[in-house]
Amino acid sequence: MPIPFYPPHLRSLFTDRERELDRLQQATADLAAGRPRHLALFGLRRIGKTLLLLEHTARLLEAAPTGPVRPVYVDFEELVTSPELFSRRYVGLVTFWALTQGEGEIEAFLTPTALLGGPAAGLRCVAQTLAAMENARDDPATQVTLALDFPEKLAQELDCRLLLLVDEFTEFAVLGNYPSVRRPWHLFRAAMQRHGRLGYVVAASAINAMKAMIQEGDSPLFLQFEMMEVSLFPPDATLALAERVLGDTPSPGVGRQLHRLTGGHPFYIHAVATRLSGLAPSPADLQPEDVSRAFVLEALNRRGQIYHYCRYLYDVSLRRARGYGILKAILQVLAEEEGLTLSELARRIRKGASTTRSYLRALQEVDLVVEDGGEYFYRDPVLRYWVGAITRGIEVDPSTSRATLAPLLADLEAERFRLTTELGRAREAGVRDLVRSFAGQTVEGAWLGLSGPFRLPTFHRVAPYRSPDGQIEVDALAEDGEQWAVELKWRGKAAGKKELAALLRKAQALSARPWFISRSGFTPAARAYAAEHDILISTRADLEKLEKHLCRTAR
Ligand SMILES: Nc1ncnc2c1ncn2[C@@H]1O[C@H](COP(=O)(O)OP(=O)(O)OP(=O)(O)O)[C@@H](O)[C@H]1O
Ligand SMILES: [Mg+2]
Repeated sequence: MPIPFYPPHLRSLFTDRERELDRLQQATADLAAGRPRHLALFGLRRIGKTLLLLEHTARLLEAAPTGPVRPVYVDFEELVTSPELFSRRYVGLVTFWALTQGEGEIEAFLTPTALLGGPAAGLRCVAQTLAAMENARDDPATQVTLALDFPEKLAQELDCRLLLLVDEFTEFAVLGNYPSVRRPWHLFRAAMQRHGRLGYVVAASAINAMKAMIQEGDSPLFLQFEMMEVSLFPPDATLALAERVLGDTPSPGVGRQLHRLTGGHPFYIHAVATRLSGLAPSPADLQPEDVSRAFVLEALNRRGQIYHYCRYLYDVSLRRARGYGILKAILQVLAEEEGLTLSELARRIRKGASTTRSYLRALQEVDLVVEDGGEYFYRDPVLRYWVGAITRGIEVDPSTSRATLAPLLADLEAERFRLTTELGRAREAGVRDLVRSFAGQTVEGAWLGLSGPFRLPTFHRVAPYRSPDGQIEVDALAEDGEQWAVELKWRGKAAGKKELAALLRKAQALSARPWFISRSGFTPAARAYAAEHDILISTRADLEKLEKHLCRTAR
């Protein structure tokens, strides 16, 4: 049963995400059993949050169209305008989904008159809510509250539970621009407290805004949601998506190159794979070099999807932040060389440290730049590549000769590019995936700073961890019989004793075994400290060996 919100051509490409879907399924089952939980999906732009919401919606409808839990998919980006319009349309949309499972004619639900005269004629709560809204005509905050409470009333009347899948959730903040509403999140929080038949799954592309909303103590939504990261694809999912797009399995070399250049980002994989399909008569004939060519054509040609997206990201993000020119300068400097510290950056753009810090903060707020251990990086390596090329005036089109493309293709093979795709969040997600693939394999202890062979545990749950009070944070907490607390540092200098001691303290608080991974290895003192305190340690080379070994034994 296709839902118009999720066209079949999109669904036919849907790949992977089984773990995330399992968690959504679990939350749905808990809601059915009367134990509502709320989830917040976050992740890079275009990583697949919307598709994940739609896929879960579709599966839920297929399994039980009028089951105990009915899905309601709403996109706040379209819905949240003025308080009055939002309130009425929210009531309409919720009713639409609850009654037609997202399939019917939506127009009949969008205005109060149409709604009352048509599909919702017999529903008491609809008439009551709309009448109450009418009475509160001069009080937009009350209208919003009535709207937020409406799904609960509807669920009561229909004797069901509603799973509200809210996309672009952070857009709700727009209502705060209306002085009469002022504090929309307080209204939302207060409404949630009154609900027992509703489960929320919210998603948004603004990573920082979303994290701040859910994890910061002074936010009204503090701890109301469990965070769920939508991460980059592992290599096998990259290959699976390419296979769907191409209609046939490409060679492993092609899959590897695709994963390396896109970092496992599904939107980029899709764009490059689509371009690839025109480059060889059959997918089996494709070579890794074709992937590089397709990547360059997608990223550096004005018609390319990646070009288009990077341009959008760059312009839109910078427009939202103040100090356009300086921000651009910082991004250009980081495109040339990443991992610079505040003072290094300040020197290159010829500004003072405190000015530079505030500009960097602006770039972090719009999710373009991340800080790790005092060094600054692009959040998205492909954007970094694009900025670097565009700044140098490099553009190509499909008729560009092979000779002109050659240096660009060679550039992609450079260590510099490889390194960047491994950085930051992408790398952390990669390590979590690695830990998830632990299943009792025996590996060389040396890869973890031990001697002799070592048997890996099997974990049930692996996720980034942050304690409710925000005091303890690790890149991964792996749990089952035994627990591991994993920390990853991807910097230019060796990790020291102090950093290991900090992880050890956190691990002790979590009753977990500490594992510290450092790209640039460890100081001798740190190594001695690790041995003494039973801290597992790995360098980048160790990690690669471990990855390779597990990848091989998995097949
Ligand atoms: N699981 C997936 N399987 C196949 N393709 C995917 C998947 N996830 C994402 N994609 C590809 O990436 C594109 C972007 O996905 P989607 O719109 O769901 O991302 P998003 O995280 O909601 O983005 P935004 O931040 O812009 O809202 C899709 O159109 C599709 O091409
Ligand atoms: Mg989306």
